[in-house]
Amino acid sequence: MPEPVANRVTDGVAVITIDNPPVNALSAPVRAGLAAALSEAETSASVRVIVLAARGRSWPVGADIHEFDKPPVGPPLSEICTAIALCPKPVLAALHGTALGGGLELALVADYRLAAAGTRLGFPEVSLGLLPGAGGTQRLPRLIGPKAALGMMLSGLPMLARRGVELGLIDEVVTGDVAVAAEELAQKVVSGLRRLRPGPRPDRLREDPAQSLAAIADARKGLLGRRLPAPVRIIDCVEAALLLPEEEGAAYEAVAFGDLVESSQSAALRHAFIAERRAGHPPELEGVLPRPVAQVGVIGAGPEGTAATLMLLAAGYSVILFDRVTGTLAEGLERIATAHEMAVAAGTLSPEQREEAWDRVSGAASLAGLAACDLVIEATDLDEPGVARLFAELERELRPSTVLATTHGGIDIDRLAGAGSRADDVIGVYFHDYQANKRLVEIVTGTATAPAVTATILALVRKTGKLAVRARSGAGMISQRLMRAYHLMAEALMEAGASPYDIDRAMVSFGFRHGPCQALDLEGLEGSAGGVPGGSAPPTIRQRLVAAGRLGRDAGRGFYRYDETGRGAEDPEVLELIESVRRDKGIAARSVSGREIRHRAVAAMANEGARLLGEGVASCPLDIDLVMLAGFGFPRWRGGPMQTADQAGLLRIRNDLRDYAREDADFWQPADLWDDLIKNGRKFADLNGG
Ligand code: 3HC
Repeated sequence: MPEPVANRVTDGVAVITIDNPPVNALSAPVRAGLAAALSEAETSASVRVIVLAARGRSWPVGADIHEFDKPPVGPPLSEICTAIALCPKPVLAALHGTALGGGLELALVADYRLAAAGTRLGFPEVSLGLLPGAGGTQRLPRLIGPKAALGMMLSGLPMLARRGVELGLIDEVVTGDVAVAAEELAQKVVSGLRRLRPGPRPDRLREDPAQSLAAIADARKGLLGRRLPAPVRIIDCVEAALLLPEEEGAAYEAVAFGDLVESSQSAALRHAFIAERRAGHPPELEGVLPRPVAQVGVIGAGPEGTAATLMLLAAGYSVILFDRVTGTLAEGLERIATAHEMAVAAGTLSPEQREEAWDRVSGAASLAGLAACDLVIEATDLDEPGVARLFAELERELRPSTVLATTHGGIDIDRLAGAGSRADDVIGVYFHDYQANKRLVEIVTGTATAPAVTATILALVRKTGKLAVRARSGAGMISQRLMRAYHLMAEALMEAGASPYDIDRAMVSFGFRHGPCQALDLEGLEGSAGGVPGGSAPPTIRQRLVAAGRLGRDAGRGFYRYDETGRGAEDPEVLELIESVRRDKGIAARSVSGREIRHRAVAAMANEGARLLGEGVASCPLDIDLVMLAGFGFPRWRGGPMQTADQAGLLRIRNDLRDYAREDADFWQPADLWDDLIKNGRKFADLNGG
């Protein structure tokens, strides 16, 4: 293993280079290396100026996220930052790539900051439920003023180096190699040809205390209604920087950071970050090479096929759109052209990009036209036998290594693959949304699907910027199973006495944007690809609503009555209908609290997740969480149903499940996995691997 920090001295300049691929996260070995190199440079008589630089694609992007859950090792970053701030020798920082979080805090303490053109600067800690904890909340407002500092830290959004110069965050933007430029500048300082700055930097936080207090008050007002603790603590820390002596301000920040690291919200947000990064990298496919894909065939020129084509074109693929009906094919190609025109008009695509994309798309009305494709994606409205016949026909036209993918969520991949003669090339890929809205893509592999085929689809999904979760073909996709459990539990609660509005309110207060009933309405009204993909039995109250013409694409209404602005109001007719279901079944309504609704919802989803793990359909709890986070609006700061169950305690939820099972043993029976984990003192997170 190469050392993560290198140190060399040339003509009075020490160049300390961080080298911790892929993104130079400030892990314990990096911090130890930095501390040692800095101390050596500070004490060495031959060093007059110090340059801090980073190798590879980026300046450090922050603390190593994987370390927050472990006991701290080695010098903390705040100590290193303080050592640099107190260093009697000038320190220059040479930034490139993305300077984020703790990485940017490291740069903040340098005496002079150079950045390569295009460098992005930001404090994304808030999106992990944290705050800049190595002095950032204290130093940033002094450097760029409280308003800009709060803006950066509360939004978490990065800015370009050019804007950093305007704010006083960056001293100089350079073209070319920034480490070389920094070393050249350092040499000039050594030889007395250049001074870094005429004097100390002004303290922009204390320049006008009344204005600073006003900026802090404004930021607090802007938080009204936000429920996460990190933004509040960020503002408190900036206030502390203004009101307290420097050392006390730093101590205040350290306490706030420690509290947040320990908070359940930050743990869940970090879990979500890791789930997204691990998506599409199943450990068992490590080292499996995807098949090269340049030319993709899309079968079906209806709205779904054209949406798939647009997505693939945007990801850089060449696409042949196939439809047997030439009129449909022409319409499909026209829809693509229109979408591109609109993108040009909206300024999201340049005319040159449109021409280039148009050169990559063509149409075919015979399957022989797809012979050159490396991958064929079926996006038709055929049923399973229809798709099986189509794949059988395709097999005769395609090269032996061409991947055959169906986008139908409801199709059994093992059955489909068994119907043809190239089972290892067949796979399911279900895009919850071809556009940007929902990033979730579920990949379903059959028993015979070749690992290289799975790797090929995962690589394609990554190129589209979406998040892939892989499931083994079994009784439905992960999302179908989870959403079915969620809706069945809501259904049972409605029968027991809760109204759909009680259920929705409880789940909105849990953190969902919409409760399950309104989500069903919206899916029915908008007819989106999301919701419960085909194959799941609709709950009976929903069935009655559909039968009564109350729910569905054509009804224009659902559990709620909607006005022209799309606002939903509670509907007495729906309550009557539910009451009639209770009467028919002889159920006396009882009162159901919001707490019970939330507990049952988590228990139902986590239990279904445990079943999916037990059946081997899902490979790890992280994937189940990602399905709910990326596809169904599960609150990110709760991390998904399995993470929520871990945080609530497996024993409590298993006991709840046992209680509920007295009402409906089939639905609520705890999966075996609960007992296995509880017995061994483990949690779902322990099944996620490294
Ligand atoms: N710690 C550890 N690993 C990290 C990391 C981090 N902070 N940030 C990224 N990585 C890893 C990813 O897990 C991924 O690993 P893999 O290749 O093994 O899967 C690899 O780096 C590349 O990441 P992405 O796939 O996300 O690559 P992108 O190019 O799309 O994005 C990025 C790069 C913009 C740096 C993005 O990864 C990112 O936003 N990272 C998080 C940065 C962050 O939140 N920093 C603040 C940390 S908290 C902190 O610093 C506290 C301090 O104040 C004390």
